[in-house]
Amino acid sequence: MKHLGVLTSGGDAPGMNAAIRAVTREALARGVRVTGIVHGYAGVLDWKAVELTARAVGGIIHNGGTILGSARCQKFCVDEGLEQALHNLTAHGIEGLVVIGGNGSQTGAACLALKGYPVVGVASTIDNDLCGTELTIGVDTALNAAMEAIDRLRVTASSHRQVSLVEVMGRKCGYLALMAGLAGGAETVVIPEVKINPDDVIQRLRDAFERGKEYAIAVVAEGAEYNGIWLEKYFQNLTHKTGLEARLTTLGHIQRGGTPGAFDRILASELGARAADRLIEGDCGILVGWTAGKVSTVPLSEVLGKTKIPNLQVLELIHRLAQ
Ligand code: F6P
Repeated sequence: MKHLGVLTSGGDAPGMNAAIRAVTREALARGVRVTGIVHGYAGVLDWKAVELTARAVGGIIHNGGTILGSARCQKFCVDEGLEQALHNLTAHGIEGLVVIGGNGSQTGAACLALKGYPVVGVASTIDNDLCGTELTIGVDTALNAAMEAIDRLRVTASSHRQVSLVEVMGRKCGYLALMAGLAGGAETVVIPEVKINPDDVIQRLRDAFERGKEYAIAVVAEGAEYNGIWLEKYFQNLTHKTGLEARLTTLGHIQRGGTPGAFDRILASELGARAADRLIEGDCGILVGWTAGKVSTVPLSEVLGKTKIPNLQVLELIHRLAQ
């Protein structure tokens, strides 16, 4: 292989730049030219690309976001889009592609792989919802952002003797919510994977005050059946009975836009370099991730269409430790 492409796709994640840098420099070190495709799969279809030299990826390891830009592209996985993509990649001499992204992005990568095109995925999403890897680039930084927000909310909630409902991202996966709840010392966490009765949530929060606490925190996953807005309304309707006020803070993109922490920079550097290595060696159609403390690979076909289930025992731990 003499020329590879790299793109970032889906929601950006802190550490994507470190991954672009690692892919590029590993490839260049092996005499392989690198083209960066701009705005994910949309850039493949409309052909927007830049040459990535060693200097072009200099001074980016510490920056959040992605220098290549990102997008969600619905057209990509339909036959016409795929054919256009394959045509454009071949016409520009790109012999293989590294796709840095989460679930939707790796589905696109798997579609390319099914057509016989050499592609390697790099697991990167703040949701950590990808199967075939224990961790994804960006989740650690996103978790730290959520934890910092919870720490701040605890301060003001305790001044006002309030309930703080904190909604975090994560799509249909409760990983971010669970881990932010554990790290932030929440009373409870509401996630899509566990069916709850909203009255039980309220009871847990009331109990916290009865045990002498001056605040109570619930972390709510955006994908839960009862999300933050729903729970806040429900809680407010019962304020006359409970005597407690609940305030909702939706963290939204605050979790995505941060400066990558050390863990995400290290992870991105390891995964990016391995992805370039695998692609150049012809070991394609795989996702490069992180499992059992080291870089791991799994066929993209095993990742497709699945959402990871987080360790639900963490919820019991959160409840036990919230006394
Ligand atoms: O996949 C990352 C993510 O931040 C999810 O947690 C969230 O549901 C989604 O992206 C939001 O996407 P957008 O920024 O396109 O609205």
